Amino acid sequence: MTALARRQFLQFLAASPLLGYTAAGRLFAEESLDAIRLPKYLIKSPADALDVFDFHNVAKQVLPTSHYGYLATGTDGNETLSANREAFERVYLRPMRMVDTSNVSLDTVLLDQSINSPILLAPVGSQKAFHADGELASARAAKTQGSLQILSNVSSNSIEDVIDARGEPVWFQLYPTNKWSTAKTMILRAQDAGAKVLVLTVDLNSGSNRVLLGQFSRADDRDCNACHGAGPDDRPAPKPMYSGTGSVRGDWDMSGMTWDYLDRLRNATSMKIVVKGVVTAEDASSCLQYGADAVYVSNHGGRAEASGRGSLDSLPEVVAAVDGRIPIVVDSGFRRGTDVFKALAMGASGVSIGRAYIWGLAAFGQPGVEKVLEMLNAELSMVMGQMGARNISDIGPKHIGR
Ligand SMILES: Cc1cc2nc3c(=O)[nH]c(=O)nc-3n(C[C@H](O)[C@H](O)[C@H](O)COP(=O)(O)O)c2cc1C
Repeated sequence: MTALARRQFLQFLAASPLLGYTAAGRLFAEESLDAIRLPKYLIKSPADALDVFDFHNVAKQVLPTSHYGYLATGTDGNETLSANREAFERVYLRPMRMVDTSNVSLDTVLLDQSINSPILLAPVGSQKAFHADGELASARAAKTQGSLQILSNVSSNSIEDVIDARGEPVWFQLYPTNKWSTAKTMILRAQDAGAKVLVLTVDLNSGSNRVLLGQFSRADDRDCNACHGAGPDDRPAPKPMYSGTGSVRGDWDMSGMTWDYLDRLRNATSMKIVVKGVVTAEDASSCLQYGADAVYVSNHGGRAEASGRGSLDSLPEVVAAVDGRIPIVVDSGFRRGTDVFKALAMGASGVSIGRAYIWGLAAFGQPGVEKVLEMLNAELSMVMGQMGARNISDIGPKHIGR
C-alpha cells in the first residue's frame, strides 16, 4: 500500500461509524461516534447538558482514574453492561396521536409513598469517591426535584445526615454481612432514623469479577492505601453505617444467605422489604412466597455477573410471575426518558438510575444531579406526550413492540 493509499484508508476509517462499533464495542458506540464526527465538547455547567452523556464526558475527565474505573466497571468482558443498553434497542415505541397531553403528570405512588416521578436514585455506595459532598449532594438534589433516594449501607455519609439533607426519609439498602448482629444494628439504626423501606441486595453473594476496575486501578499511579487503608480488617468499618457494629472486612461474606433471610428481616423490622437483584420468574415467585413488599429487577448495572442479559429483557418474566400483586422497580442501563417509558410500559412501577446521576454528581455536585433528574423527568414527560399518555397509569403494553 502506498503512503497516499494508506492515508486515504485511515481517513476513511476515521470517518466511518463502523470504527465506533468494532473498535470500542457497541456500548460505547454512541460516545465514539460523537467523538469521530464532532469536536470534543465538555460542558462547563449543568445548564449546557443536552443529555446525560454530557455529564459522563465530564465525569471521565475529572475523576481519578481508579474512581472512574469503579464507576464504569462491569464484570468479565462487560457482557451484561453492554446487554443492558442493547436491550432498549430491541423495543420500539408506538405513539398514539391526537390525545390532549397539555398536562402530563409524572406523579407516582410507590409502596404507599407519593413521589413526583417514577425515576428514583439507585443505591450507589461511597459517593465521596465521586464528589466531596457525597450522598448529601444527591440528597439535596433529590429534595429540590422531589425524587426518591435509596441510600446504600456502604455510603460515605450517614443515614441521619442524608435524611436531614433530603428533608424526608430515604429508602435504606442493605448488604447483609455474615454477622446477623451487624445487619440488625444497621437496620434498627435506619428504622430509628425514619426509613420506611428496606432494600435487600441479593446479587453480590458470590462476589463479582470486575476486570475493568482492575485495569483502571492499574493505570492509576496514586497510592490507594493512603485513603482506603491497607489492613485486612479496615474496609467496611470506616463507613458511617458500620460504626458501632464491630464489623470488619472478613464479615463481608454473604454467600450463605437464603430466602428465609427475609423472615429474619421481617421479624426484626416494621420497614417494608424490597428485594433488589431479581432477574428471573423463579426468584420473583420466591419474593412473593417470602412476603417481599416489592421486587427490584436489577443486574447491578452489569456489575454482578456476566449473564450477558439486559435488565430490560429480564423484566417480562418477572412481571408475569408477580402478576400485579406487588410493585416492581427496575434499574440497569437507564439513560433516557424513552428507556424509562419502555420499562413502565412493560409493567414496572419505578425505574432507578445509577451511573447517570453519579456522572452528574462527579461533574458538578448537587447541581449536576439536579440537572440529570430534571432532564430525565423532562424527557419522560415529552415521550409520554408523544405516546398520548397523560399519567403514568396511562402507560401500558400498547405503547411498545418488539
Ligand atoms: C459505583 C456504583 C456503586 C454501587 N453501589 C451499590 C450499592 O452500594 N448497593 C447496591 O445495591 N447497588 C449498588 N450499585 C448498583 C446500583 O444500585 C444500580 O443497580 C446500578 O447502578 C444500575 O445500573 P446503571 O448504573 O446502569 O444505571 C452500584 C452501582 C455503581 C455504578
